[in-house]
Amino acid sequence: MNYRIAPSILSADFARLGEEVRALEAAGADLIHFDVMDNHYVPNLTVGPLVCGAIRPHLKLPIDVQLMVKPVDRIVADFAKAGANLISFHPEASEHVDRTIALIRECGCKAGLVFNPATPLAWLDHTLEKLDLVLLMTVNPGFGGQQFIASVLPKIAEVRRRIERSGREIWLEVDGGVKTDNIAEIAAAGADTFVAGSAIFGSGDYAATIRAMRARLAMV
Ligand code: DX5
Repeated sequence: MNYRIAPSILSADFARLGEEVRALEAAGADLIHFDVMDNHYVPNLTVGPLVCGAIRPHLKLPIDVQLMVKPVDRIVADFAKAGANLISFHPEASEHVDRTIALIRECGCKAGLVFNPATPLAWLDHTLEKLDLVLLMTVNPGFGGQQFIASVLPKIAEVRRRIERSGREIWLEVDGGVKTDNIAEIAAAGADTFVAGSAIFGSGDYAATIRAMRARLAMV
């Protein structure tokens, strides 16, 4: 399995964001997870296309934008112009999920669908064939540093089965409470892309933490 580590900059020092993302790239990250919150769909307010555009020149890595906003379509093109490579959104936040997926692709980005812990996988029934990424939240979205919700593990396994049946290359990303100590269990359930915020930024040594996570993944 080709595993990817995606640090979530929600836990970064925003006063030094350019330096922080350069440090993540040097530390061996595979992509940068960019959490967009609107204090409407989720109870927190973070960053927009302006900040995405500001970090773009500091990075060669893909920028993985998670839109926790409602509505969704209005802001997609702005993030694409700002240098996003992947854009994912929550199906509950879009009136027309198929249209939003098509819009993300028309803007030249890879498209992903995000599932909160209680969101049913039925949304995949008529969309999986059009997706590049499925993101399963293992916390209720809105904040970093929350506890991993283990009841999502069987859901990861079910999505892995669906992806294998589809025969397509679709990334299976997990986000929320991912740590060096639980990453192997999450990978064993079927995930291949791991968002981690507080585990990396709270460690003070980004490279050592990413190496430790990879060492656990190598044993899966
Ligand atoms: C939460 C965000 C996550 C968060 C992860 O809503 O979507 O990306 O930053 O942070 P940790 O790894 O600390 O749970």
